[in-house]
Amino acid sequence: MCGIVGYIGSKEATPILMNGLKKLEYRGYDSAGVAILHDGVIKMVKTKGRLATLESKLGTTDLRGNLGIGHTRWATHGEPNDVNSHPHISSSGKIAVVHNGIIENFMKLKEFLISKGYHFQSDTDTEVLANLIDYNYKGDLVKAVMNTLNDIEGAYALGVICTDCPDEFVAARKDSPLIVGLGEGENFIASDIPAILEHTRDVKILEDREVARITAGKVEIYNLLGEIVEREPFHVDWDVASAEKGGYEHFMMKEICEEPAVLKATISPRVRDGQIQFEHFKLTDEMVKSCEKINIIACGTAYHAGMVGKYAIEKLARIPVDVDVASEFRYRDPMVNEKQITIVISQSGETLDTLMALREAKKKGSHTVSIVNVVGSSIARESDDVLYTWAGPEIAVASTKAYNTQLAVLYLLALKFAQIRGTVDDETIRYYIDQLMQIPDHMETVLQDKEAIQRFAAGHYNARSIFFIGRNLDYALSMEGSLKLKEISYIHSEAYAGGELKHGTIALIEDGTLVICPMTQDALFEKMVSNIREVKARGAVVLAIAAEKHLDEAEKAADAVITIPNIDPLLAPIVAVTPLQLFAYYVSVMKGNDVDKPRNLAKSVTVE
Ligand code: F6R
Repeated sequence: MCGIVGYIGSKEATPILMNGLKKLEYRGYDSAGVAILHDGVIKMVKTKGRLATLESKLGTTDLRGNLGIGHTRWATHGEPNDVNSHPHISSSGKIAVVHNGIIENFMKLKEFLISKGYHFQSDTDTEVLANLIDYNYKGDLVKAVMNTLNDIEGAYALGVICTDCPDEFVAARKDSPLIVGLGEGENFIASDIPAILEHTRDVKILEDREVARITAGKVEIYNLLGEIVEREPFHVDWDVASAEKGGYEHFMMKEICEEPAVLKATISPRVRDGQIQFEHFKLTDEMVKSCEKINIIACGTAYHAGMVGKYAIEKLARIPVDVDVASEFRYRDPMVNEKQITIVISQSGETLDTLMALREAKKKGSHTVSIVNVVGSSIARESDDVLYTWAGPEIAVASTKAYNTQLAVLYLLALKFAQIRGTVDDETIRYYIDQLMQIPDHMETVLQDKEAIQRFAAGHYNARSIFFIGRNLDYALSMEGSLKLKEISYIHSEAYAGGELKHGTIALIEDGTLVICPMTQDALFEKMVSNIREVKARGAVVLAIAAEKHLDEAEKAADAVITIPNIDPLLAPIVAVTPLQLFAYYVSVMKGNDVDKPRNLAKSVTVE
């Protein structure tokens, strides 16, 4: 978590840093700060609260200079307050640091530094870094940072400035993302590409344990042995507008409205002459044929996409699939071997738990395929194969369009595996491909019906608790609908398998409780009708999500119905999730919540 930026060039650094931080605020927003080096002195302004608070503090300060670093924080060590905000400065005033990550051995290092006469003001691990770099500084900032990195355990992306070095700053990373933006007579660092996009499209991605010396005219990257590393720049081809709100009130709504387009971009290029093709795919047909089990690993929304993937792969390719939460997978000595394929799913490509789980699976010999949105992210680079979800930048903390595209890629994978293993005939493959190609149009239809969902939300935004029930794929979908709702509305919500509710949770249903029931699975439609009767008999108000062809029956069973176009039930979650995303969105707006930046959350979770 946390977002960091850095600038060196001929322009005023503060506005550039502030603009960059605004693009990174999704990474954390409990405090923020900037430090500028000018005339051999580091001046710093930082504060608890959002960037707007920092902006008004800056308004009363004269923070001028052409070299600086900035930070927007999601607290790990120490409560969010002014003192714990970044940047942190060494007790001599020589070194200032912004940091994203966690230094695990910071207590031991702190004791050592105290014994050497350093003093501390904050509770953070980052202040230890600033003082340790100061302690190691003997005239070369890159060397001081390298020596410091040898002493620390944990994850970091760093920006470091030093009063002795008016013409350079230093960046480093391990297990936390960091890119270097290459400008004309100016250079940048940032945790993510949108932060620098208005200045440059050429970036170099720092690898783990690399350190960069950045001047206005040059970027030198070193490995930990101090050797220069050559790195080709990478050209970003999305436009700035796709990282901006473009007239929408919130990023979340903009991103939901982009779903038809990004699904097209994700599906179409992979279907050629009626065949599914993945470019540069290293996974061989032999490996797919001999595969004994598939592991799908992810967190949060991406995990829910994985649950849909399990149903699709098992049904079409007849390979058993285990779906695991990444933080559980990595610590239970999982039974993984070279006869298994591991699929990891991550929008950001930087989620630490997922990255570590990927490494664990690789270590145990499994071929790894990642489904990732951010090009060049750690998970994309470290997996054997990567299938990008072409969802474009997702800024709202609550994931929406990334989920739909993750499902699209999982369906394509399931069909590809089925084709290779011969578990379904060519006609069936063609049928599903045709169904997939129709999805962007179906999504447009769903989006045209936004107002119906808004009206329904208006009657329920004050609910204390909302339940989601569904069977089979609708159960996986319910879990995503429930997560979306709770993360941005702060309403308590649970998702249950339709058949499981009566084994305990039905005790919580009382007069007026809202129960949302996706019922897109034809074979289980009647069973869901029975489940709806069960909850209605206890006083529940039921909203059903059903295919158009089932409207009449759904209306008889439920109090309200939102329809989705008729689509094969196997693919229904990709379309049916959108009304659930919209419902969560409208409830959050009506409650006056900060939709794009819900409390306690951050977009990219780069801590354990
Ligand atoms: C929910 C949400 C999170 C993420 C999870 C994994 O809306 O955004 O649950 O899905 O933190 O993040 P990625 O996909 O970046 O690995």
